[in-house]
Amino acid sequence: MIGSGIAGLTAALRLRNEVDKVLVVTKDVLAAGSTQWAQGGIAAALGPGDTPHEHEVDTLVAGAGACDRAAVEVLVTEGPEAVRELIALGTNFDHDHHGELSLTREGGHHRDRIAHAGGDATGAEIQRALIAAVEQAPEIEVIQHALAVDLMLAEDGGVAGLTLHVMGEGQRDGVGAVLCRAVVLASGGLGQVFAQTTNPSVSTGDGMAVALRAGAVLRDLEFVQFHPTVMYLGPDSRGQQPLISEAVRGEGAFLVDFEGNRFMQGVHELADLAPRDVVAKAIMRRMIDSDHPHMWLDARHLGAAFWERRFPTILATARSHGVDPVTDLIPVAPACHYASGGVRTDLWGRSNVPGLYATGEVACSGVHGANRLASNSLLEGLVFSRRIATVLPAELRPLLPPVADPRTPGLVAGGVRREMQEVMTARVGVLRNAEGLDEAGLRLDKLAGQSAGAGDQESWETTNLITISAALAAAASLREETRGSHWREDFPERDDADFAGHVDVVMDDGASTLEFARAPASDVGA
Ligand code: SIN
Repeated sequence: MIGSGIAGLTAALRLRNEVDKVLVVTKDVLAAGSTQWAQGGIAAALGPGDTPHEHEVDTLVAGAGACDRAAVEVLVTEGPEAVRELIALGTNFDHDHHGELSLTREGGHHRDRIAHAGGDATGAEIQRALIAAVEQAPEIEVIQHALAVDLMLAEDGGVAGLTLHVMGEGQRDGVGAVLCRAVVLASGGLGQVFAQTTNPSVSTGDGMAVALRAGAVLRDLEFVQFHPTVMYLGPDSRGQQPLISEAVRGEGAFLVDFEGNRFMQGVHELADLAPRDVVAKAIMRRMIDSDHPHMWLDARHLGAAFWERRFPTILATARSHGVDPVTDLIPVAPACHYASGGVRTDLWGRSNVPGLYATGEVACSGVHGANRLASNSLLEGLVFSRRIATVLPAELRPLLPPVADPRTPGLVAGGVRREMQEVMTARVGVLRNAEGLDEAGLRLDKLAGQSAGAGDQESWETTNLITISAALAAAASLREETRGSHWREDFPERDDADFAGHVDVVMDDGASTLEFARAPASDVGA
């Protein structure tokens, strides 16, 4: 298991009595990934009157015609049971004064169906419960501070093992290898590809890059979701930025421009709670038209008591940056939030590489399409990890000897990371066009040519970031339409005749060139 968020730990817990040994490898400590940071919650049809079908319809509409309908059906029908299991494991979700699960609403949902914990600390509570369960499971071995470098492949091209870069005692690095019969990638997303993101520093696209180098297909990388309401900290702020959960709008907050106009009204029937891509685009349009670097979120009317009970984490964070949401407008702008694409998997989490599975943000299971519906990501990790645990034990390969990898590592210097992030944000961010994407491709190529002196964690991460950035920019260039979170100002329309399918990325044997295949437009949803 590579990764230790909701997807990785769910798979580990479910597999622990089904296979001889489960090893969880994580780059930092167990709780360092994105799950810990999730605020809004986990979506599932658990409320009175709600149905999986209604959840499916909302998911397909948000996905803008690029979802895999069968995968969405799996998500919404198996979701409620998966959440009940999470509760049985010891996750303390919030309840109302009747003792019923408290459910809220976020963008794109037509029902209250988001379960939350600790007000706005859902991910932290889920992570706590999962770590507690893993600590009670002696069958699961955990290696922390170990970056997965590459898969070792057997003669047949399938999984034979994994190489690791281990941060040793006193920060001395070392390398290691693990021979194994299957690898489950659950290593999260790629947010650090951009200059501002809600993702923690560990989100450097490692799992996607490892999979790509091993021959796996990456799908729909161009669909990167920008969260509309990320707190704006000024033009020079970089890295992880504070998220202002969509649930704040779910509880009644609304967006205003510098003149106080509620600009989401009239843009969409759900106004401030329109799907995320619609809100992010409306904010960007206002920012561009008015030449301001952000817009405002007004949540003052929620009052101090409500803020303290319902959103204690966001309240404390905003105050620590000098903004009091009880009395002040909150400055917000879109920032990179979630990779809807990733390692292409089937309905059971299998990639095209024998013995390699993927789940959670690193995967592209088909549920998110062009724009993930809010709070569907924790659910995806849960549901598809359970599915992997169902099939993997019977599919285990024999332990096979790895064959030598003829490629030279070609590590990129860590020092290029900042420039790469600037290029990606300026040219491959919320608003894209052919000229900018071409320029990004050239500049990324140049940056990739700056070799690292030594194979340390920084250079491995930067190599992964550059690899994924180049693939993402190329995929965005190929998709000449505007769909979901992919916004081409030079192709403003959605084009179902040519683009109702997927963009797949592969890496040729031994060489870092990319191929693109437009997948057949099968049943891709609304
Ligand atoms: C949020 O709380 O707004 C984020 C939830 C999500 O990304 O699903």
